[in-house]
Order: sequence, then structure tokens, then C-alpha cells
Amino acid sequence: MYRVLVTGGAGFIGSNFVRYALRRHEDWAVTVLDKLTYAGRRENLADLESNPRFSFVHGDVADLDLVDRLAGEVDAAINFAAETHVDRSLLDAGDFINTDVYGAYALMEAAKRRPLHRVVQVSTDEVYGSVESGHSLETDRLNPRNPYSASKAGGELMVQAYYQSFKLPVIVTRGSNNFGPYHYPEKVIPLFITNAIDDLPLPMYGDGLQIRDWIYVLDHCSAIDLILEKGTPGEIYNIGGGNERTNRELTNLILKILGKPESLIQTVEDRPGHDRRYSVDTTKLRSLGWQPSHRFEDALADTVKWYQENEWWWRPIKSGEYTEYYQRQYGERLKGITASHPGDPYSGQTIRRGRL
Ligand code: NAD
Ligand code: TYD
Repeated sequence: MYRVLVTGGAGFIGSNFVRYALRRHEDWAVTVLDKLTYAGRRENLADLESNPRFSFVHGDVADLDLVDRLAGEVDAAINFAAETHVDRSLLDAGDFINTDVYGAYALMEAAKRRPLHRVVQVSTDEVYGSVESGHSLETDRLNPRNPYSASKAGGELMVQAYYQSFKLPVIVTRGSNNFGPYHYPEKVIPLFITNAIDDLPLPMYGDGLQIRDWIYVLDHCSAIDLILEKGTPGEIYNIGGGNERTNRELTNLILKILGKPESLIQTVEDRPGHDRRYSVDTTKLRSLGWQPSHRFEDALADTVKWYQENEWWWRPIKSGEYTEYYQRQYGERLKGITASHPGDPYSGQTIRRGRL
């Protein structure tokens, strides 16, 4: 058996990766380490719980002793564990630094002592900052512009430093914006799909002309899997779907798939420091033999369908802590549009629980 530690495996990409990897590699045994924050959910892994090649450990990637012990029991590690939402990082960045930076350090310390075959640090194209034209190369300078991307840059720089200092077999990936099943409905695609299903406003930041390069989550998973197998230690690999869309184009497509009116879109105050565009050059990854296998429009339609068919998953999320976050993030933003949206449950000071 090839034993793999997947940190953050109860989150969106991590859970998709574990499902993908166990199906693809019959000789893999996966241990998930996850703190089960608001974004980590055991139900994301429900269908894997009875698999004898799957095990789950509830704990913190920043716990040096725990990570050291687990690293001693596996052949490889993939670090998905992170605080991941830009808007939350703008409200409070403390947890981002603890998990995204200190967690990477904890994993590197363990990797220093344990003879791991590979460690993959899952990073993001957001470390390049806003790219007004052209495409980011792995050699470009980092220019993170919000606390989330700064913490991810800190984590991956730590990993790169451990490669330079101790020649650990580490690889960094920089993925573009993912979408697909089990995506927490604070991120734009699942937020807009689930709001639109309920005929609630879609809060679009600023002019909506910001560009993201969307990749279907399983294409991201296949890239990480290939990089683990064929990537070169010490190297960095961009991962991108090549599907650049403005937020407005993306939103119109979601509404079209759902058969909902564009009048649901509500322009709200922009995100501070909002990066205008991300775009990565994926030549290096493609030279390993990777290419995406999902068409953007089809994968988006499949994703919409998944949310339509899996209300059991997202409706309970949209209550409790989520409601408080939603009010904090959007309460004031959507308040200004009360006149055009009488009866909007998000406007004003109070949000009725269970309505989100
Ligand atoms: P997510 O927020 O859905 O999941 C994060 C997971 O990490 C959750 O299960 C959470 O419980 C867990 N976690 C948080 N703090 C932890 C800690 N201290 N110890 C252990 N587990 C902890 O995020 P995601 O979208 O699945 O992203 C996974 C990784 O991929 C992150 O590192 C993120 O930076 C990176 N990434 C995401 C995207 C994207 O578009 N979502 C793109 C590129 C890279
Ligand atoms: P998001 O899903 O938060 O991902 P990221 O900021 O990591 O790229 O946001 C994607 C884009 O959608 C980004 O340009 C911000 C925008 N957006 C909105 O317009 N409204 C929203 O409510 C959210 C959450 C995002």
C-alpha cells in the first residue's frame, strides 16, 4: 500500500481528491487529518467512511506532535488544510496565519524527521496577485494583496525554504479557482447557485468585470495526482483550467442554467483590494502530460444540478454560524438596495434564521 496523509481532506477540494484518489489507485490508503472548522465536514466524506483504505483523524495541521506522528505512518502527504475565504481573511486573518503558515511549518518539521517520498503543498494562483494582462509563470514574483493570499504565500515560501535548506522532496502547486460538488456556499459559484435556487439576491462586488480562471475540481485533482507521481521535487506547478470568465459572464451563465432572471443580480460595494484578474500559464504542468478533461459549460451545468439534487448538504450549512457571517459580510452591502428589493430577508439588521 502507498499510504497518503491528506490534510484538510474534509473540505471542498480535499474531499473530492480523496474520493478521486481512492477510486483511481487501488493500492492507496488515505488518512485524512482535518480540524473540522466551519468549512470541513464529515458528510463530505460520508460515502468513503466504510472504505477499509480510508481513515479519519480529527486534529490540527499546526499540531507539531500530531503531524509528526502521522507523518511517521505514511509515505506521502498532501497539504490542503487551510483557511480559504478571502472575505473572511479581510474580517480577521489570525486563523489564516495559524493554519496556512504555521501548518505548513509543522508539516515541514515532520518531513524533516520522517522519510517521506513526497509532500505536496497545495497553493493558489492568488499568490501572484492581480494580473492585468498575460499569464503568470511559476518564476514570476509573488505579490499577494489580501491576507488569505499572503498567508498562502507564507506557507509555500516556508515549504520552498525547507527544500533549499534540507532538500526535502516537496512540490508546490498553484491552482486557479475551483468549482464543483461540496463547495462551501460562501464562495461565489455555490453562493450564487443556492441563492438563485431560492430567488434571493446575488451580491456582485463592484462592476463584476473581475476575471477568474475556472477549473473543475476533478481536473485540479487529476493534476495534483499527476504532480505527486511525476513532478520534480523543489519545483512549482501552475494548475489552471483555461476558462477565464468575468464574474458577470459566470453569473449570467448560472442564471441561464437555472432559468432564473438577471434581475436577481445586485451590485454591491466592492471587496477591498479586489484582485482584478488571475491567469496562469500551465505549459510546465502540460509537459508532464496533463490536460483538463471537463468542458467549463458542461461542468458548471453538472455543478448546478448537484446543488439542485443535494439540498440535504447545503441547506443545513446556511444557518447558524453562516447566518452570522452572511449578515456581517453582506448586511450593510445589501441594505442599500432595500428599496429595489422590498421583502429581501438580507436587508436591514436582522436575518431570519433558516431563510438563507
Ligand atoms: P475549504 O475551505 O473547503 O477546506 C479547507 C479544509 O481545511 C476544511 O476541511 C477545514 O476543516 C480544514 N482545516 C482548516 N484549518 C485546519 C487546521 N488548522 N488543521 C486541519 N485542517 C484544517 O478549502 P478548499 O477550497 O477545499 O481548498 C483546499 C486547499 O486548496 C487550500 O489550501 C486552498 O488554499 C487551496 N486552493 C483552493 C482553491 C479554490 O478555488 N477553492 C484554488 C487553489 C488552491
Ligand atoms: P471567491 O469565490 O470568493 O473566490 P476568490 O476571491 O478566491 O477568487 O470569489 C470569486 C469572484 O467572485 C471574486 O472576483 C469575487 C467575486 N464575488 C462576488 O462578486 N460576490 C460574492 O458574494 C463573492 C463571494 C465573490
